[in-house]
Amino acid sequence: MRRSVVRALIRPLALVAATTVIPLVGAAPVSADNVVVGGFPVDVTQAPWTVALSSRDRFGGTRAGQFCGGVAVARTAVLTAAHCLGDDVLGAPPNRMRDLKVIAGRTDLLSGEGEEIAVSDTRVNPGYDSGTNAGDFAVLTLAKPLPQSAVVTMAGVGDPAYAPGTEALVYGWGDTTGGGAYARGLHAARMRVLSDDLCARAYPGGPQGSYLAASMLCAGEAIGGPDACQGDSGGPLVAAGRLIGLVSWGNGCGRPGSPGVYTRVSEVVRALNAAAGDRTRLHGRS
Ligand code: ARG
Repeated sequence: MRRSVVRALIRPLALVAATTVIPLVGAAPVSADNVVVGGFPVDVTQAPWTVALSSRDRFGGTRAGQFCGGVAVARTAVLTAAHCLGDDVLGAPPNRMRDLKVIAGRTDLLSGEGEEIAVSDTRVNPGYDSGTNAGDFAVLTLAKPLPQSAVVTMAGVGDPAYAPGTEALVYGWGDTTGGGAYARGLHAARMRVLSDDLCARAYPGGPQGSYLAASMLCAGEAIGGPDACQGDSGGPLVAAGRLIGLVSWGNGCGRPGSPGVYTRVSEVVRALNAAAGDRTRLHGRS
């Protein structure tokens, strides 16, 4: 997991799923050499809008086909990362995947809890740039509605939840160690929203990637530690009870000076509102 090229760092669990298995958090000590993603197990009832994206055809059944995270923002709409639906991940356009599902209400992937809901439509943000990872979001339409209690509110532009220093929680079934230890149960990690200045200094461009404040936000702790990791992509970063980010990319996981980078949800809200005024806009890539 210690790669120097950002393209490798942002690739989802998909590409390693065949050979690895994982969790999102560990209690190991933090050091620059020892990647750690400090978090803790949680029950999905604490964050019922957190869902797993699954394709057993593509990723096998050992972890219920989980390959990315997602978050319910309406009863039939789930947000995830655009990069989760790339051809390199799925091996086919998402609308041609016959068994693409959202797993809701299930803490332990291997339990029968909750429900598996078919995805009836996928729309990748036409503004997504896979080179910079700007605009890293996609909208999935569910074949069957979730309960209203499983929907989280998106924080719009100017929401105080985006203020640097705000405490935030990220949720997912991804790597808990940075070494390919994929979780079976849902984990969360607690961190703070960081300032655009700090994020821009952490990712000034070059092999580590560029922080683009208009469509990204970053979160973590200065000394490293709590972070999202591979397999968490598309999942929620929540502050003050509202959705502010989607797991997108980072340089390794939990490294001091390399915070996690998230899709800025206020930008998603803006794009969706614009698309509502021009129905064709989100129909581009799928
Ligand atoms: N791109 C990864 C995924 O697809 C998420 C990486 C997040 N990394 C981080 N250090 N926060 O699962």
